[in-house]
Amino acid sequence: MGLLRHLHGLLLPLPLLLLCCASPSSRGATATQVGFNWGLKSSHPLPANEVVQLLRDNGVTKVKLFEADPQALTALAKSGIEVMVGIQNDLLEPLAGSVSAAVDWVTQNVSSYISKLGVDIRFVAVGNEPFLETYKDKYLLVTFPALQNVQAALIKAGLGRQVKVTVPLNADVYQSVSGLPSGGDFRDDIRPLMVSIARFLLDNGSPLAINIYPFLSLYADPHFPVEYAFFDGGAAPVVDGAVSYTNVFEANYDTLIWALEKNGLSSLTVIVGEIGWPTDGDANANLVNARRFNQGLLNRVMAGKGTPKRPSAPPEMYLFGLLDEDTKNIDPGAFERHWGVFYYDGGLKYPLALDGGRSLVPARGVRYLSRRWCVLSPEAGVDDPLIGASVDTACGFADCTSLLQGSSCNGLDPRSKVSYAFNQYFQAASQQSGSCGFSNLSVITTTDPSQGSCRFGIMIDTSRRVATRSPSSSSSSFLSHGFRRWGAQPAVVVAAAALSSLLL
Ligand SMILES: *[C@@H]1O[C@H](CO)[C@@H](O)[C@H](O)[C@H]1NC(C)=O
Ligand SMILES: *[C@@H]1O[C@H](CO)[C@@H](O)[C@H](O)[C@H]1NC(C)=O
Repeated sequence: MGLLRHLHGLLLPLPLLLLCCASPSSRGATATQVGFNWGLKSSHPLPANEVVQLLRDNGVTKVKLFEADPQALTALAKSGIEVMVGIQNDLLEPLAGSVSAAVDWVTQNVSSYISKLGVDIRFVAVGNEPFLETYKDKYLLVTFPALQNVQAALIKAGLGRQVKVTVPLNADVYQSVSGLPSGGDFRDDIRPLMVSIARFLLDNGSPLAINIYPFLSLYADPHFPVEYAFFDGGAAPVVDGAVSYTNVFEANYDTLIWALEKNGLSSLTVIVGEIGWPTDGDANANLVNARRFNQGLLNRVMAGKGTPKRPSAPPEMYLFGLLDEDTKNIDPGAFERHWGVFYYDGGLKYPLALDGGRSLVPARGVRYLSRRWCVLSPEAGVDDPLIGASVDTACGFADCTSLLQGSSCNGLDPRSKVSYAFNQYFQAASQQSGSCGFSNLSVITTTDPSQGSCRFGIMIDTSRRVATRSPSSSSSSFLSHGFRRWGAQPAVVVAAAALSSLLL
C-alpha cells in the first residue's frame, strides 16, 4: 500500500499500442461475476447453509474461502457456486517440505469435496499475502515450493486442468520508482522470486491474484486525494504518458501489469483476490463511502470496463468481504471487523444495484437469541468507580470497535457508550446467565437501545453448533472466569485498556 501514495505526479510515455491488446471478453459482464470472500473469524458465525442461501439469493457465482473449512465446503456442495479454497500461511512450511504432504492436503481438502460432495472447486489459493512486508521474510522461502507441490498434487489427483493454483498477494509486492504505473516493477528484495512464481503460474495456465485496497491508501495517508479512491472520475487525473488515471484502483492494477511486462510475463492473467470498503472503525469507513465504492466497482464490471492496460474486460474480482467478522485481528485498524457488504447476521448495510436493476437481498431465516439487551442500570452512575474496569472487561472480550473515534457509536453520550460495551459483552457471551452482571451496574432490557447510526445488536443463535460447549447456568462470577467458555477467541481489542478512559 505504500506505493499508492506515490501514484500521482510524473509523466512517462506509454506506448499506445499496449492499450488495445488484451484478449476480448468471451462472455457478457454481469455483477454476479463478482465473487465474495467468505471469512470465518466470527464469535457467532452465520450458519454455513444460510450463507450459501444468501449467496444464491443474490445470484453470486463465486466465493473465496481463506481455509478449507469443512462446514463451508459442505454447504457449498452442488450449489452451483465456484469455489477458491485458501491455504493458511502456517501450512506453507509443511507443504513446502514434501510432495506427499501436499498430496495429503489435496486429497483431504480438495479431491474429496469434489468427488464425494460435488463442490465446484476451481482454485487453490496457496497462502494469503505471504510476502507482506510486515511478515519480514517468514514465508519467503516456503511459498514457491508449497505452490509447486500443491500443483504437483493436483496433477496427481487428476485435477490439473480443473483446479488452478494461485497466490493471493498484497499490492506491496510491486512498486513504482517513478510513482506512475509505467514505472511499475516488483519490490527489489523479492523480484527474482516474484518472477519465478509468475512464470510458474503462466506455465500452468494459472492466474496471479492481487489484493487492492483504495481505502487503505486513504487510511495510510491523510493527504491522499479522496476522490481518487473512488470510481466516479471526479479526481484530478494522474497522467502517465497517453493515459489519464482518475482512480487508484486502475493505477494500482496497471502498475502490476507494467511490472509483469517488464519481466516478460505480459500474458499472465491477473485477478483481484480482495477489494472492498469497510463501514465502521474509521472516519472514512462508513455506509456512504462503502456503497459508493462497491457500487462503482459493480458498475464497472456490469459495463465490462477493464483498465487502461487491459481494457477489453474487467479482471475477475472477489469483494472483501461478505459478512462482518467480530473476532478479526485489529492490529491493522479498528475497521478490520467491518468489511462486510452485509452485517454479521446477513443484514443489509446499504442498497447495491445488481444486473437488470435487481437489488441486493439480505439473509433469510436467521435465528437470533432473545430480543434482550444488556444496558447500564438506571440506578447506576456513570461515575461509579467500578465502571471503568467493567467496560474494559467487556471490551477486552467483545468487539467494541464501533465506539472508537470516527465510528458509528462514538457520538453516544457516556451512559449509552457504557451500555453499548455491556451489550456487546452480553451478546458475545450468548446472553448467558451472569453475562449481564457487571457488579450490579447493568440490567437487561427488552427495549432496543439502538440510536441513530449506532446499532445495539442481538447475537445469532448458534446453539445448534456449539451444543457441546455447555454453558454453566448460574455463574455470578461469570466475568472473572467465563471467557474461554465459548471457544471464541477473546477479541484483541484496540485500546481495550484505554477504552474506558476514552468513554468516560
Ligand atoms: C487439510 O488436510 C490436511 C492433511 O494434509 C489437514 O491436516 C488439514 O488440517 C486440512 N484442513 C485445512 C483447513 O487445511
Ligand atoms: C449485587 O446485588 C445483590 C442484591 O442486591 C447483592 O447481594 C450483591 O452482593 C451485589 N453484588 C455486587 C458485586 O455488588
